[in-house]
Amino acid sequence: MLEAAKQLLTPSKRSNVPPFIVMDVMAAAAAIEAQGGRVIHMEVGQPAAPAPATALKAAKVALEQGRIGYTETLGIPTLRAAIARHYAQNYDLALDPARVVVTTGSSGAFIMAFLALFEPGDRVALANPGYPPYRHILSALGCEPVLIETFAETRWAMTGKALIAAHRSQPLKGVVIASPANPTGTMMDADALSKLIAVAEAEGIRVISDEIYHGLDYTFAAETAANLSERAVVINSFSKYFCMTGWRIGWMVVPNSLIRAVERLQQNLAISVPTLAQIAAEAAFEGRAEMESVKHGYEENRHILTQGLPKAGLEKFLPVDGAFYLYADISYFSGDSLDFAKRMLNEAGVAATPGIDFDPVSGHNFLRFCYAGSAAEMHEAVERIGNWLAKTPR
Ligand SMILES: Cc1ncc(COP(=O)(O)O)c(C=O)c1O
Repeated sequence: MLEAAKQLLTPSKRSNVPPFIVMDVMAAAAAIEAQGGRVIHMEVGQPAAPAPATALKAAKVALEQGRIGYTETLGIPTLRAAIARHYAQNYDLALDPARVVVTTGSSGAFIMAFLALFEPGDRVALANPGYPPYRHILSALGCEPVLIETFAETRWAMTGKALIAAHRSQPLKGVVIASPANPTGTMMDADALSKLIAVAEAEGIRVISDEIYHGLDYTFAAETAANLSERAVVINSFSKYFCMTGWRIGWMVVPNSLIRAVERLQQNLAISVPTLAQIAAEAAFEGRAEMESVKHGYEENRHILTQGLPKAGLEKFLPVDGAFYLYADISYFSGDSLDFAKRMLNEAGVAATPGIDFDPVSGHNFLRFCYAGSAAEMHEAVERIGNWLAKTPR
């Protein structure tokens, strides 16, 4: 009886994924603000700007027309066609809209891609440091995330050599690649990406390319895996470049052989993706000029931080190629990034994310700064950090 009651109260083992530690930093920042303090928020990875005006207008018009029903499971056909055109315009790729699947953010796409590609027990390689939900979604689905360490010598990117070494020790079924990456903001050039994909596919390792930060590149243009392989699964989103995080809308480009499997999964998991968000997303492509000016703001912020942080005392960070992140080495001040982040918040009023969220191995030595705020905030953050570090022993 006692055992039966216990069973009714116990969550599944697979639900036991680690929490996002950044939420603790956010809660502490909110507590400071509730008492009248001012915090510069550099912890959360989302744009400060709203969705493009074209998207907002299309959503308003749709709302005024009344009924918002389900759509086709794979997405509104005109939106899928617009996404395919985006590949023609940006990557010179003639993409069949039939291969485009509209999803509930890229987060929804990961669940479907992992379900469509892998069996429970399959091993999937991820670069470390990396975006935590990759490993947590894989674990919840019964797959095994395999972390592959990255190093300065390879610009913090996973290489074919490291992938094959892991595969030889125990076979891998998949690999998730992200460029620009979160938390580092570093990118792989087209050659490195192409080599990694070729090595993986030659071994039968399925490639999933997370391209959510495409469009936000400052040193060289990001290449899409869709241009390098017809078998790779490409995942993207309207959340970052198009500033539409809360709209929960993204997409994937899948190989022909996967379209029907993904359609069946999405029919059952979601029926369809929120209609209003799809309508807004289609119109977002018309708002590129506005989004480019938002991107120029990030570029300016990137400049302020890369010039200012070394003078403020944070001299070492990874190559700041893309996205809106700067991943700084704090090891000469502290080997406990959570404690360092808490102190920086309390004493300097700047919130950043401890690296332990992204890297169970060396994350205690790093902090991630998001520079999607305003230029004035960036200047103030540099000044506050500089004043604070001047009083912090090395
Ligand atoms: C690398 C990466 N991939 C995917 C996501 C998920 O984004 P969304 O579900 O909003 O598309 C994020 C969000 O921060 C991210 O940083």
